[in-house]
Amino acid sequence: MGKFYITTPIYYVNDIPHLGHAYTTIACDVMARYHRQIGVKTFFLTGTDEHGQKVQKAASEKGVSPNELADNTHKTFKHLWEKLNVSYDRFIRTTDDDHIKAVKYIFQKCYENGDIYLSEYESYYCVGCEEFKTETEIKDYDYKCPIHLKECEKVKEESYFFRLSNYTDRLLKFYEENPDFIQPDFRRNEVISFVKQGLKDLSVSRRRDRVSWGITVPFDENHTIYVWFDALTNYLTAAGYPDSLNEFWPADVHVVGKDILRFHAVYWPAFLMSAGIESPKKIFAHGWWTVDGHKMSKSLGNVVDPFKVSEVYGVDQLRYFLLREMPFGLDGDFSHLAVINRINADLSNDLGNLISRSLTMVHKFQGGVVYNYTNQTKLEEEYREVYLKTLSNYNIYMKNLEFSRALEEVWQFIDWLNKYIVKVEPWKLNKEDREYLKTVLYVIVDGVYGVLWMLNPFMPTKVMEALQMLNYNTVPTSISPFSFRPQTEINKVSPLFPRVEIKEEEKKMEEKKDEVKQEDFITIEEFARVNMRVGKVLEVQKVEKSDKLLKLKVSLGDEERTIVSGIAQYYTPEDLVGKSVIVLANLKPRKIFGIESHGMLLAAKDGEKLTILTVDREVDTGSGVS
Ligand code: ME8
Ligand code: MG
Repeated sequence: MGKFYITTPIYYVNDIPHLGHAYTTIACDVMARYHRQIGVKTFFLTGTDEHGQKVQKAASEKGVSPNELADNTHKTFKHLWEKLNVSYDRFIRTTDDDHIKAVKYIFQKCYENGDIYLSEYESYYCVGCEEFKTETEIKDYDYKCPIHLKECEKVKEESYFFRLSNYTDRLLKFYEENPDFIQPDFRRNEVISFVKQGLKDLSVSRRRDRVSWGITVPFDENHTIYVWFDALTNYLTAAGYPDSLNEFWPADVHVVGKDILRFHAVYWPAFLMSAGIESPKKIFAHGWWTVDGHKMSKSLGNVVDPFKVSEVYGVDQLRYFLLREMPFGLDGDFSHLAVINRINADLSNDLGNLISRSLTMVHKFQGGVVYNYTNQTKLEEEYREVYLKTLSNYNIYMKNLEFSRALEEVWQFIDWLNKYIVKVEPWKLNKEDREYLKTVLYVIVDGVYGVLWMLNPFMPTKVMEALQMLNYNTVPTSISPFSFRPQTEINKVSPLFPRVEIKEEEKKMEEKKDEVKQEDFITIEEFARVNMRVGKVLEVQKVEKSDKLLKLKVSLGDEERTIVSGIAQYYTPEDLVGKSVIVLANLKPRKIFGIESHGMLLAAKDGEKLTILTVDREVDTGSGVS
């Protein structure tokens, strides 16, 4: 049985939610649903981080009080979670009474234990990060925050400090004794080398005359508590602190983005050690979404609105995409084409077709009844083995938060089932061996049933729809091969995942490209990372179902590349063969219309006209361009 306590970061209310917030929260929701499904008592916490300078500043810029801003924005987060089917158990706000009490209590506790003292700070502060920066961190960036690219404030003031310097060794020992505490492993190594450099004491209060929007230091009303000290404590508040911690503490995993790993993996356990509280079991830091290769930012106008994308593509489709497309822990890129490809290839084709095909056969050949398995051949033996292996790998990956691998396992099973259908040819059995047909159709539906169970945490709405077609009204607590209820009369079949038309999206993409604004200067070093070479076009084909794309085979002298290029409206294949072109050679490969493109052709565009860049004189194919 056991228990499982999972948390998202609590999000700042200075701005409305975007794709990144949705990503973390959906990942946690999948974990929570998975654990509930296997019968583990689960507590899933999310919420909003409402105090501090960042929120105070945003409110004053908007001409409202911080309270009003928090009241409004926290509702937007709640609406989004409702829309995305996020099954949290508590939505905590740092302005909640029980939280304020918990923060004051733990602050007092650290103080009484001698870890908090009054002194003076002089340093640079980034309001975007809500973090002090050292001179070394920002001097190469013109004294701007390297993340927010905004000027850091120079602050000199009286402040309470936490004796973090006393915790260097204890933390290192803790990491050593708990090798799974920080995940993935490469992040763990980053944190350890940071701590090994030695830790400085941390400022944990602000003078009230500068930051009034915060919780008052219990023993000094001229100070408010540093927003990160306040925020991290939310995980304890929700577990009953300070009265008595409930069965859910220590948390099993705090899921965070890589941007805030240090707060969770260094400061948080140190605060807890000081207050004599057990540390959480795991901090998992996931990677970063970019959009069409760019950082998501307001100034670029490319912030992805999760309300909109879930409206356009469907909630479950978005949930699936986010967890399938990039391995949890690594960075990845969001683009509309990538979403569409996943929906069409994985959901519509592989999964959707398997379900509609198999249920349609049950209707057509057996009047809608799934019988039982009677005679088994080698193939059904194999089925059993593949099923069991899938399930066992799936469970391992899920427990490790390796969502994309868990889904890959399920898709291999789906492939196996689709191939099984092709091999046994039920339409032939319908004429030749109706007894074996019963087994075959049972096996296929039993497989679908297993697949649905494994996908339920990811796509709960679609899975329920599909289960209802199978005449089930609830999700079973466990599955195993041949666990589908025999002699079941199934219901009408309706399509689950309609294909998404790509043409329209292509148009949207084009429009969007024009919107991307000029960025600031780049340095010569940044430019040097761009590898451009002269290529010779060897072959050109049209890309099926697209009127914009051509597939080219291009020689770079020592190698040949496949490149997909959106130039079909400007060049025929004949125009291009034999031409020398300029290729961006170190562009990350990407799938376009199912074709992996290794590079990009450079072209100039002037309103309606587009012309490919080429060279002025003969040069060797493969020559560098700079
Ligand atoms: O940091 N890709 O809140 P926040 C992936 N209040 N995830 C992203 C992302 C992106 N491009 N952008 C944001 C705070 N995120 C503090 C947390 S916790 C005690 C206090 C996600 O509103 C990711 O989870 O800035 C990141 O850690 C979080 O949003 C930051 O949210
Ligand atoms: Mg942030």
